[in-house]
Amino acid sequence: MDSAAGSSGRLWGGRFATDPARAMEDLSRSIEVDFRLAPYDIAQTCAHVRALQRAGVLTDHDAGLLLSTLADLATEIASGSLQPDARDEDIHTAIERQLLERLGELGGRVRAGRSRNDQVATDFRMYLRDQARLLVVLICGLQRALLEQANRHVDLSAPGFTHLQHAQPVSLGHELAKHVHALARDVDRLRDWDDRVAQSPLGAGALAGTSLGLDSSVVAQELGFEGVVPNSIDAVSDRDWAAEFCFCAAMIGIHLSRLGEEIVLWTSTEFGWASLDDAWATGSSIMPQKKNPDVAELARGKSGRLIGNLTGLLAVLKGLPFAYNRDLQEDKPPVFDSVDQLVLILPALSGLIRTLEFHPETVSAGAAHGHALATDIAEWLVRQGVPFRLAHEAAGTCVRVAEQNSCQLWELTDADFSAIHPALTPQVREVLSVTGSMAARDGVSGTAPAAVRRQLTALQTVISNDEAWGARPLVTF
Ligand code: ARG
Repeated sequence: MDSAAGSSGRLWGGRFATDPARAMEDLSRSIEVDFRLAPYDIAQTCAHVRALQRAGVLTDHDAGLLLSTLADLATEIASGSLQPDARDEDIHTAIERQLLERLGELGGRVRAGRSRNDQVATDFRMYLRDQARLLVVLICGLQRALLEQANRHVDLSAPGFTHLQHAQPVSLGHELAKHVHALARDVDRLRDWDDRVAQSPLGAGALAGTSLGLDSSVVAQELGFEGVVPNSIDAVSDRDWAAEFCFCAAMIGIHLSRLGEEIVLWTSTEFGWASLDDAWATGSSIMPQKKNPDVAELARGKSGRLIGNLTGLLAVLKGLPFAYNRDLQEDKPPVFDSVDQLVLILPALSGLIRTLEFHPETVSAGAAHGHALATDIAEWLVRQGVPFRLAHEAAGTCVRVAEQNSCQLWELTDADFSAIHPALTPQVREVLSVTGSMAARDGVSGTAPAAVRRQLTALQTVISNDEAWGARPLVTF
C-alpha cells in the first residue's frame, strides 16, 4: 500500500495518506538554522553506527560502509561542496537522505535506536561545548590586550569615579584590570557550565530509551562527554543548559557594554584620555572631521540583543509539557545568535584596546581635582586617633573652606587646618599628594601600584590556564 513518505526524504510518512501542505513544510523546516550542527550530527552518527555494530544490529561490513560514507559527508560539508538543501526538513533528515542516496536501504538502518529528540539535544550540547571553548580563547585575547595596557599604565594616576563624579585617585592600570577580572569570572562561568552540560542525551530515544541494548556510555565517551544524562525524559526535554549558556553570553555582553561605555567616554573630546587608532574607528558620512568609537558602541548595543536572546529562550521553555515538543526547535536561533555576536565583537574590541593610545598628562591632570584627597585627610585623622565620624566631618569642612577660598586642599594654611580640627597639624600634608594617596592603598585589592602589580601577575596565570582549557579540543573528528 502506498504512503505519503515515498522518496521524499522525510523521516516519517507511513501513516499519512497525503503529502504535507507546502506552508506546513515551510514552517517546519529548520535546515538553514541547524546546518551548522552537521559536523556534530555526523560525529554522533559515527558513534551510533559503532554502537549498532557492537550490539549486532549492523554487520561489520555495513558499519564500515556507513562510516566511510559519513567521513565523505564530513569532508564535503567542511569544504562547502555540500550545502543546505530546502528539501530537507532539518540536519538529521539531510544526513539520512545523503546516506540513502549513496548506500540505498543500508542508509535507513542507522536510525534504529535513536530519535531526532535525543539526536538534536546531543548535537546542540556538543556544538555549544566547542563554542564555549572558542569564546574562552577570544575572551583571553581581549584580556591580554587589556592587561598589556594595564601593565603600561600601573603608575599613571587617574581620577576614579563614583556617580560619575571625581571620587579618589586610582592607578589607570587598576581601572583597566577591573575589566580583566570581570571577564575572568565570565570564563570561569563557562567552564563551570561545561561541567554540567558534559552529559550525553543519546540513548534516550524519543523519550523512553531504546530496547536495542546500545551501550550509551561508550557512545558518550567517544563524543567527549563525561557520562550519560541519567533520565531519558529529562534528556530530551530540558534546555536549561542552553539558557544557562545564553546567560553566560549575556553577562559577557554586559561586561563588554560597560567596557565599551568607558571607551566612548574616555575618547570623547571632553575627557580626551585616549585616542582611537584609525583602523578601529569610523567616520561620518556628513561631518568630515569625525572619528567615532562605533566598535565600542556596537559592543554596548549588542548586549541588549544578548539579553533578548536569553529572555526569548526562557519564554519558549516556560510551562512546556514533557517530554519533547516542537517548540524546542526555537531553542537554537537565539543561542546561535549569541555565539555569532560575541564572535564578532570580541576580536574587534581586542584590536581597539590593543591600539588605544592613552594621553598620560590628560589622564592624570584631573586625579586630584574635585578634592579627591578628602578621604585621605579623614583616614589620616583616624590614624591620629580621631573617630571616623568626626574625621569625616573635619575633612568635609576642609573641602568647604577650600571651595570658599577657591583653592585646592593642599593649599589650605596651617591656620585653616588647626581651626577646622585641633588634630589637623601641618603633617597632614604628607597624604595630600596623588602619589601618596595611591601608594597608601596597598591592601590586597587596593590601587597602590605595588598592589596592582601583584594583581596583574596573578591575572597572567589565570589567563594562561584559561587559554589552555579553551585550546584543548573536546573531540577530534
Ligand atoms: N529539528 C528538530 C529540533 O530542532 C529536531 C527534532 C525533531 N523532533 C520531532 N519529534 N519532530 O528540535
